Amino acid sequence: MSKSIRAFAPATVANVACGFDILGFSVEAPGDEVVITLTEGKGVSIKAIHGDEGLLPLDTSENTVSLVIQEYLNAIGKPDLGVEIELFKQMPLKSGLGSSAASSVVGVFALNKLLGEPLSQQELLPFAMKGEELACGSAHADNVAPALLGGFVLVRSYDPLDIIELPTPEKLHATIIHPHIEVKTKDARAILRKEVAMSEAVTQWGNVAGLIAGLMKSDYELIGRSLQDVIVEPVRSILIPGFDQAKKAAMENGALGCSISGSGPSIFALSTSQETAEKIGKGMQAVFDAINIESEVYISKVSQDGPKVVS
Ligand code: HSE
Repeated sequence: MSKSIRAFAPATVANVACGFDILGFSVEAPGDEVVITLTEGKGVSIKAIHGDEGLLPLDTSENTVSLVIQEYLNAIGKPDLGVEIELFKQMPLKSGLGSSAASSVVGVFALNKLLGEPLSQQELLPFAMKGEELACGSAHADNVAPALLGGFVLVRSYDPLDIIELPTPEKLHATIIHPHIEVKTKDARAILRKEVAMSEAVTQWGNVAGLIAGLMKSDYELIGRSLQDVIVEPVRSILIPGFDQAKKAAMENGALGCSISGSGPSIFALSTSQETAEKIGKGMQAVFDAINIESEVYISKVSQDGPKVVS
């Protein structure tokens, strides 16, 4: 058995407009990497975290990767196994790109591989959800499930947990823009209304069903028509200066649809080619440039795959 493994887990777009807390997809890049090493010693330790500008805790009880790994070790009956973690953050924190989810997933995925896969990939999900709970106060699965399983994923139910992997139409590309403003997931959840009107619910579940049908049929027009959120986006978009103009720019440059990525501040748009995805990115970036907000753009196909072993 190999003593060390390096693995990658992707960034994810949660909610996908209409599917608050129940839909997400993964992209091919960016993503986080980890090196997990089995040691002679006892217990979980963190060797180093790179690329986080010192923001992530090195204390194993506060760090999502070590917490998830410890929960996993307890569950497989090896609570004292010596495990060393080296994490390489390759995407911005608190961005709406599923950064904490990628870290939670990559650690437990790598260790499970190193130990000869005592658990299936689906069985790793509840551990990764614990990392999400630690990172942002809520154990939602719409980032961790696609980061772990790849492609589009539906959380049909939280209790009991029922995760449905959906097909990913071949041509789908994502443009994600990360404007440099901070929106904490906790805050972005706290401002949401606790109740919705029946008429809004009808619109929203029509769109969720339409989006799922569009994915199943590779019907890009239907996917586009369904990328609408009448419940969460109108509330959260006020936290993102330039959101309305950026969305308009995305649509004018050929996006099928556009909304907030996860809890923001990143914004995503879907399209059917690399060229259109790039045009959308330029259009959105010009909006943030004009209001003096720095931003970076990520362009990637919507991934068919989840985490992978790098070496
Ligand atoms: N569904 C979650 C939310 C995703 O929108 O709060 C957070 O990353």
